[in-house]
This record gives sequence, C-alpha cells and structure tokens, in this order.
Amino acid sequence: MGTSSEATLSSGHRLADDVRRDLQASPKRLQPRYLYDALGSQLFEAICELPEYRITRSELHLLTTHGAAIGAGMRSPLIVVELGGGNGEKLAVLLSGLVDAGVDLTVELVDVSATALELAARTLARFPAIRVTPHQTTYEAGLQHIGEQRIAEGRPGGMLVAFLGSNIGNLDPSAARRFLTMIRGGFRSGDRLVLGTDLVKPESELVAAYDDVLGVTAAFNKNLLVRLNRELGANFDLDRFAHRAVWNAAESRVEMHLESLRAQTVSIPGADCVVAFAAGESIWTESSYKYESAALAALGADVGLARHDQWVDEDAHFAVTTFNAV
Ligand SMILES: C[S@@+](CC[C@H](N)C(=O)[O-])C[C@H]1O[C@@H](n2cnc3c(N)ncnc32)[C@H](O)[C@@H]1O
Repeated sequence: MGTSSEATLSSGHRLADDVRRDLQASPKRLQPRYLYDALGSQLFEAICELPEYRITRSELHLLTTHGAAIGAGMRSPLIVVELGGGNGEKLAVLLSGLVDAGVDLTVELVDVSATALELAARTLARFPAIRVTPHQTTYEAGLQHIGEQRIAEGRPGGMLVAFLGSNIGNLDPSAARRFLTMIRGGFRSGDRLVLGTDLVKPESELVAAYDDVLGVTAAFNKNLLVRLNRELGANFDLDRFAHRAVWNAAESRVEMHLESLRAQTVSIPGADCVVAFAAGESIWTESSYKYESAALAALGADVGLARHDQWVDEDAHFAVTTFNAV
C-alpha cells in the first residue's frame, strides 16, 4: 500500500465553513460525507450486517457472480479506481476476477475516511502483488488527481472506475449528472464505469433499511452531532434530537434527518455560530436516491457513457451496471 497522496480536505477549517453555511441555510443540513469519522465508518460496517440493510449482501452477490464480465476485454495494465469503497471487500471480489484473468493491475482508493482506507488496506493485503494507493479526499479531488497523474506519467492501458454501494444515491439528480460527466471527462476510449445502484422498492423496506430496530442507523446519524461536539466544541445534547428516516416518493429518495425535540439553541464555537432550532425542525443529513433499473442507461447516455451490461437482483431490488466511454 502506498502512502496517501493528498492531505484530507475535511480539515477543521473546511468542516467549520460547511457547518456554518449549512446550519444557517433553510432547511438546515449537514453534508453526508461528515458522517464518516472513525466511529461513523465503523457504524457503517455494522449497518452492512443488519438484516434490514440488504445493499451490501445483494451487491456482493452480483459482483461475485458477474465479476469476470465486469472487467472483460479491458486493456492491461489496468488502473482500477474505487470511489468511496469503505472496507474494500467488494473491490477484492472484483480484483479476484481480474487477477484470475491475468490482468496487470494498479489500484487507487479514494475515500474521505481514514478508517475506511485502513480497513481497505487490510482487505487488499491479500493481493500482495498489486500496488494500492490511498487518497484521503473527496471523490472529485481524488478523480482529478488520478487523471492528472495518469497523463503526467503517460500510463498506457485502461481504467475501470468502481462507484459501488449506491454511493451515487447520496447525490441529487443534477449533482449525479455533473459527477458522471466528470468521470466521463477523464475517460479514454475503452475505459469503463461500474455503478452499483439501489432501486425503488416498497416503502416499508426502504424506511426499515434506514431506521433499523436495533438503532444502529440512528447511532450512525447522531454520531454526526458527537463529531461536531468533539471537533468544533459544539454543545448538541443528543437526547434532544431524534433520528428520522422518511421516504420522499415525489423525489424518489430516503431522507435521513435529526429532528430537534424542542425549541433550543446550540452553540458551535469552532464554526463561530449559534444555531436556533424550533421544536420539530430538523437537520437533513443524507439523501439516498433510488433508481429504476431501466433509467440508468438514459442517465449514462446523457453524459456520453453507453450502457455495456447490467445485472439486477430482483429480490433485493439492486442493480450493477457497467458503462463504456463512447
Ligand atoms: C455508504 S459507504 C459505502 C461504502 C462501500 N462503497 C460499500 O458499498 O460498502 C460510503 C463510503 O464513501 C465515503 N464517502 C462518502 N462521501 C464521500 C465523498 N464526498 N468523497 C469521498 N468519499 C466519500 C465514506 O467514507 C464511505 O467509506
């Protein structure tokens, strides 16, 4: 494993600026990437084990079954980039197929979470011959850096970008289109994107996946306030906020909120602000947009990515789709 090529962008300053702006906006919000501090990343690992959260098991099954087809025909030496890969287990499944096919590989991991990158390093240690470089940064900064490096080093061969776990669901439709355009912009002919997408399903299943009976997702969400208390000296009282998960059918998204249980004022000295909450007012912490499998080809086509193949788990309602640069 190489060393991280960039300093983290979620430095104290950046966090403070984002928190000041987003908690003074209407509606109040916090950016989902801040959910992933050390504890948040471990809580996400626990979420993946919950019976209600089927995304991880479903996607791992699709990757195990169809992994060989995902990288088939790509040019060696291949750069594999995973964006927001968490513990690296899904990538390991993909890499196994490529290694078995004799592809010469290097791996670039982009994640804001140091903990996720450490977990992935441990997972990928089972491939000692593969050079793995972590980038502790945002998707956009990581992609840009990797693209520039590819040009500067004149690296031949292809690039496979993996954006799994329905991470794309955290982006609203226009941000998703902008982000796919950015991925496409760094592609050469023959490069490929593999995208994991959670699909629309009955509301009861969608809400349960983000509001489990054990309260693990509630802890994951409320940990954001713990983080602001620790890193910005805020005085959020966790007992005065409740986790809420709601399905917004009109927007096709599950929203996670932290609802203020009473009128209250919270001071956040590290962000140089004091925030007033009305009773029932919430902080919107994450959106998880749900897609229709048939709509994904059109989404790709819109940004110059041609659908190459697609596998759908009809029971868990999850899709893995590959796109080629056209
Ligand atoms: C929902 S988890 C999914 C992890 C993995 N893809 C999976 O399917 O299990 C999202 C991952 O993306 C990272 N992440 C979230 N927002 C990010 C951003 N804007 N830039 C880079 N990484 C981000 C988190 O740290 C976390 O590891």
